[in-house]
Amino acid sequence: MTAHIIDGKAIAQEVRAEWKVRADALKARGIMPGLAVIIVGEDAASKIYVGNKVKACAELGIHSEHIALSADTHEATLLAKIAELNADPAIHGILVQLPVPKHIDSNKVLEAISPGKDVDGFHPQNVGALVTGSTLFPPCTPYGAMKLLEKTGIEIEGKHAVVVGRSNIVGKPMALMLLHKNATVTICTSRTRDLARHTRDADILVVATGKPQMITGDMIKPGAAVIDVGINRLPSGKLVGDVDFDSAKEVAGWITPVPGGVGPMTITMLVANTVQAAERGAK
Ligand code: GUN
Repeated sequence: MTAHIIDGKAIAQEVRAEWKVRADALKARGIMPGLAVIIVGEDAASKIYVGNKVKACAELGIHSEHIALSADTHEATLLAKIAELNADPAIHGILVQLPVPKHIDSNKVLEAISPGKDVDGFHPQNVGALVTGSTLFPPCTPYGAMKLLEKTGIEIEGKHAVVVGRSNIVGKPMALMLLHKNATVTICTSRTRDLARHTRDADILVVATGKPQMITGDMIKPGAAVIDVGINRLPSGKLVGDVDFDSAKEVAGWITPVPGGVGPMTITMLVANTVQAAERGAK
């Protein structure tokens, strides 16, 4: 069997078009949705992600501010910048790209963002609300992965979903979102004993470990839907996911490629959260 490929690029275009209609409706009422993206330091991957976020706003015709601070920026300076943006009526969404340099307390930074502008969904108030099913902002990467499942027509209710990875950005919120859709959810980590025993039982397998190609075809249930959140660069320069695509696609029923799977959806859902924040403010 060869899996159906879930085309994240095409689905992202479709979802962006839906949100463009909503952004245009706001603009017609004189409200321009605005996103502020803050990056601290010189992390090469972060710079690319932030550049792509700003570009996506431009493509959708919404306002964005790209604030680049040097790696030696004091925590107090960053907090003051966030306070300024919290009070700025032209800004509906604020995002601080992670990781921040070690001398800055990331929890303190995330807590400083107004929960109503927290388009990443990382403020403890929104994380708590995600647990109860009422967050203002679903975190963008798992939100994007859920959209891929929805748009592909993959049923979630009653299925066994296995999430490998327990990060705050992906694994934990992903597990909660699947649970809210009535999946039976198992959370594993890359250190789970006999990991394959769990992954082989997954109808829906979501992998976010940051370990290149660690999930191989023999660890996948025939016909399963495999969502690969990883993006890793091999020494050869090739970009690969946390799933070994070539062996996995022979077993899975559906699979996301890397690149071109979850990646384009993350940015799409960030734009969606920003437009939604502007809609809330506009009411
Ligand atoms: N670093 C890696 N992923 C993310 C994300 O989704 N949001 C932010 N702010 N930083 C990240």
